[in-house]
Amino acid sequence: MGPLVGAIDEGTSSARFLLFKAGTAEVVASHQEELAQIHPKEGWVEQDPMEILRIVESCIENTIDKLISLGGCVDDIVSVGITNQRESTVLWDRITGKPLYNSIVWLDVRTSSTVDILLDKVPNKTRNKNYLKPLCGLPLSPYFSGVKIKWLQENIPEIKKSMAAGTCMFGTIDSWLIWNLTGGIEGGVHVTDVTNASRTMLMNIDNLKWDPVLINFFDIPSSILPQIRSSSEVYGSISYGSLKGVKIAGCLGDQQSALVGQQCLNRSQAKATYGTGCFLLYNTGPIKVSSAHGLLTTVAYKFGPDTPAVYALEGSVAIAGAAVNWLRDNLTVLPSFGDAQEIAEKAETIETGEVYFVPAFSGLYAPYWQQEARGVIVGISEDTEACHIVRATLEAVCYQTRDILEAMNNDYGSTLSILQVDGGMTANPLLMQMQADLAGVTVQKPTMAESTALGAAMVAGAAVGHWDLEKTLNIPSVKWTSQFTENERDIRYAKWKMAVERAMGWDM
Ligand code: G3P
Repeated sequence: MGPLVGAIDEGTSSARFLLFKAGTAEVVASHQEELAQIHPKEGWVEQDPMEILRIVESCIENTIDKLISLGGCVDDIVSVGITNQRESTVLWDRITGKPLYNSIVWLDVRTSSTVDILLDKVPNKTRNKNYLKPLCGLPLSPYFSGVKIKWLQENIPEIKKSMAAGTCMFGTIDSWLIWNLTGGIEGGVHVTDVTNASRTMLMNIDNLKWDPVLINFFDIPSSILPQIRSSSEVYGSISYGSLKGVKIAGCLGDQQSALVGQQCLNRSQAKATYGTGCFLLYNTGPIKVSSAHGLLTTVAYKFGPDTPAVYALEGSVAIAGAAVNWLRDNLTVLPSFGDAQEIAEKAETIETGEVYFVPAFSGLYAPYWQQEARGVIVGISEDTEACHIVRATLEAVCYQTRDILEAMNNDYGSTLSILQVDGGMTANPLLMQMQADLAGVTVQKPTMAESTALGAAMVAGAAVGHWDLEKTLNIPSVKWTSQFTENERDIRYAKWKMAVERAMGWDM
């Protein structure tokens, strides 16, 4: 079969392991398992770090079984890359190797009060959310890991004790997995990569090191932090299981990994991934663009210890696919996620135009950054049926993406004409057409659906000399272009903005 590169893709709702033929987008074998989310209170979202580890191990072993049944050989696997849900925060003890609390998932909003307290620390009583942005590229928000660490330090006595004893370790999911897979208490390596570190609020966005000013602001011990490494280098070797001895040689936050997998490796290229949330990343090259319109400055990738970092502007939307799940699980108007298209198609476009749904379940992320916003559905009449709400849910994903595109155009001064897309929701062609219509962009989707995992395989393969990142992969794609007039699009967008106004400030 030739050299193979593995990719662990650990997302919010499922984990998977895939084996790619080195240097190609061809998947030889893969296995995926769902992950449970724990909701102890309204707005709290946790996951069990041990379950995440076990499911990743199970995905690896099942994929290897499939490889062997296809006549392949484990010895062909030259390296493994990791890509992961970002910001979700795990604290564990280096002596016991056990988590000190569940992972606080990126979506969790329990730390709204922590943000409030931190805002009081901003000099001159300005409570400026963007006070730390020049240093870390991010506004103060419950979304980011530093705020979650602060909450854990203040609310979980075992964590306070472990921090005082110097045995507490912090990691986003990449660090937790790499530490365990490389040996855990028996010598695991405690590392993260620049892309994941750029989501903590603790890394200096210019020098890519943990920043003493930021650490001091959050008042957390620096001894808990992993070493920051590039996205493409050997961190260590897997110490057990079928992949024992295989090098872990790549690491990227999942959104950055999709950018790489979509081959948006040139300035001004952008991709949107439609998963639980929707994340639009715009490659700004070696230049760090500071957004004046609510976008995040983040590290896109760094292809090796001696290679300069490439930056991106990011527009993060918290709720995309999660709103469709909500229709299925809470409103029970959808038998399954995949039925959204068929049901939405029952609504005539013109009728649905009057129903707008802003799914601000946990506040609004970019470009608004309003943790007090809550969901609203407006424009309901006696003729409104479930299909209109389903359609309005899909439209909400598109309008939120347009919000981000507007902000990007304003920050960067150029209009994006092609948007590369991927993620589970792109299986819905109606949504893709709506996106082209409502944002006025050409939407282009590779027929190979695994962009996120591909990015991780690319960096892991490159680190061991089995992938040439300069060589463009020839991946076929499909396109959707707008069927709307500018006027039609703008009238609808103005109504969306009115609906957003109504969602803002609800949870005061
Ligand atoms: O920032 C959160 C993001 O990385 C989560 O991605 O694919 O798990 O929804 P996903």
